[in-house]
Amino acid sequence: MLTVKKHIGECLYEKYTGLVSTPTMSASDFEGFLEYPPDEALGDLAFPCFKLSRELKMAPPAIAAKLCDNLGDDIIDRAVTAGGYINFYISPDYLAGKLLPEIVEKREKYGSFDFGKGKTVVLDYSSPNVAKPFHIGHLGTTVIGHALKMLHSFAGYHCVGINHLGDWGTQFGKMIVAYRKWGSREAVEKGGVDELVSLYVKFHEEAEKDPSLEDEARAEFTKLEHRDEEDLKLWKWFIDLSLVEYEKTYKQLGITFDSYCGESFYTDKMPAVVEELREKHLLEIDDGASIVNLEKYNMPPCLILKKDGSTLYPARDIAAAIYRKKTYNFDKCIYVTSAGQSLHFAQIFKVVELMGYDWAKQLIHVPYGTVSLNGSKLATRTGNVILLRDLFSEAIDKVKEIMDEKHTSLENRDEVAEAVGVGAIVYYYLSNNRIKDINFVLEDALNFDGNTGPYAQYTYARTCSIISKAGGVPEITPTGADITDPSEAALLKTLSLFPEKVLEAIDELEPLVIARYIYEICTSFNRFYHECQIVTASSQRTRDFRVLLTDCTRTVLGSAFDLICMKKTEKI
Ligand code: ARG
Repeated sequence: MLTVKKHIGECLYEKYTGLVSTPTMSASDFEGFLEYPPDEALGDLAFPCFKLSRELKMAPPAIAAKLCDNLGDDIIDRAVTAGGYINFYISPDYLAGKLLPEIVEKREKYGSFDFGKGKTVVLDYSSPNVAKPFHIGHLGTTVIGHALKMLHSFAGYHCVGINHLGDWGTQFGKMIVAYRKWGSREAVEKGGVDELVSLYVKFHEEAEKDPSLEDEARAEFTKLEHRDEEDLKLWKWFIDLSLVEYEKTYKQLGITFDSYCGESFYTDKMPAVVEELREKHLLEIDDGASIVNLEKYNMPPCLILKKDGSTLYPARDIAAAIYRKKTYNFDKCIYVTSAGQSLHFAQIFKVVELMGYDWAKQLIHVPYGTVSLNGSKLATRTGNVILLRDLFSEAIDKVKEIMDEKHTSLENRDEVAEAVGVGAIVYYYLSNNRIKDINFVLEDALNFDGNTGPYAQYTYARTCSIISKAGGVPEITPTGADITDPSEAALLKTLSLFPEKVLEAIDELEPLVIARYIYEICTSFNRFYHECQIVTASSQRTRDFRVLLTDCTRTVLGSAFDLICMKKTEKI
């Protein structure tokens, strides 16, 4: 897909190749040098010529003059020099006559690419630890992971979304001990995952007083690993109960997975992996435990087996990586977790590399920062956690209050409140740099003005209501002459940026790029809405053009929402 930036980059490159005998730069270098000027008066895109002065042995203004000579076509309206810069102005004919019809024709495919065709990306995300609370710390992996999946699908990749459930490990020993000591079938059946969590919390409280409980739990987990039937039954029951609960949250977000193969799935694949590590002389015994020494790489050892022979989290991840490569033959395997696990992934990627697998370089860890709520840090082992489910319902209730205050009466009130409430949280979360720590302030997330989800959804609903007021979308062949107000041109330029934003988000593995772009579209559209009469425009032609522009905004905004799992609401 051709973007304006790419086109200008290519034009400049062509000029440049006429000036040098052996080019040292590529067309994409030129594209990369282009900047968006902070001030519209300086053009739509600017090229700083300083980057070339050394190679061309010329002063930047002279280079600007040379490159600028005769630049202009159906996309570039004008290119003018300004000192060492060339400022480009995009042609209104291109914006109205080419871009708009392209959006109309491609609809929700506008902005997509096919460079991922034939390639597979495996994404490992959400992956809560069963029987522990699904708390707001998991919001990041869930929504970032899903957004990265949507972005890669939009670029043509075949994507496999895996929920690598934390369904194995000592915590199940703890759960089983706690259940037998303090739980009952009736209470768990009634209380579901909440009851499991309280048992888990109780275990930790009691273990503080009586540390021998920890040994009991370890022994129980070893029994589980040896496939003790009673323990397996309980374990399976805990998992099923938890999944029912998670599904509710995923449904609210509109997220589905292609696989739920969690850690337990790899138990029977472990012996072969341990054997392979041994054969490749990577395994060492350290104080009874089996490890891979990573001292040479300045990392602590990667733990494979405990003293008692039970497997550990890193070992299961190594088995999972090998299994996934065999099963999906991925081109990339992306893991989304908190930055707290960066060392874990660096270690397992290193071990896979040391095992001689050259695809180790296709394993990518995407870390994100911590989440706190109004300043309070979240902890898992105590009862002091904010469940994602509770956060969502609180947001939904608040949206309902706001709707009541505004006297909004909608047939599908509950559905809309859920979309707006959950969307507000998703948007608030994703409009931060993923690696930065976030303090969640619900009131800010739910503000209907400013850079928020409700503002974006409100804008989307506004585009829908304009189209319905207009009685549908007219069929016209727009041209540059239809642009009569600067806000129309500005909106078109914003819409033209969508493909670039998609590329940038994929390159940086950063959904924030899309969230920020949603805000750009909304401000640009609302400026147009306030400055121009749309349905009440003075001439039929202007009305038709503006309705079409509104419809295209709706399309692009809707696609951008889909990319970051925000639901679209036609009315708020
Ligand atoms: N269950 C883990 C947690 O909640 C995250 C798992 C991430 N994926 C993986 N393949 N290790 O911390």
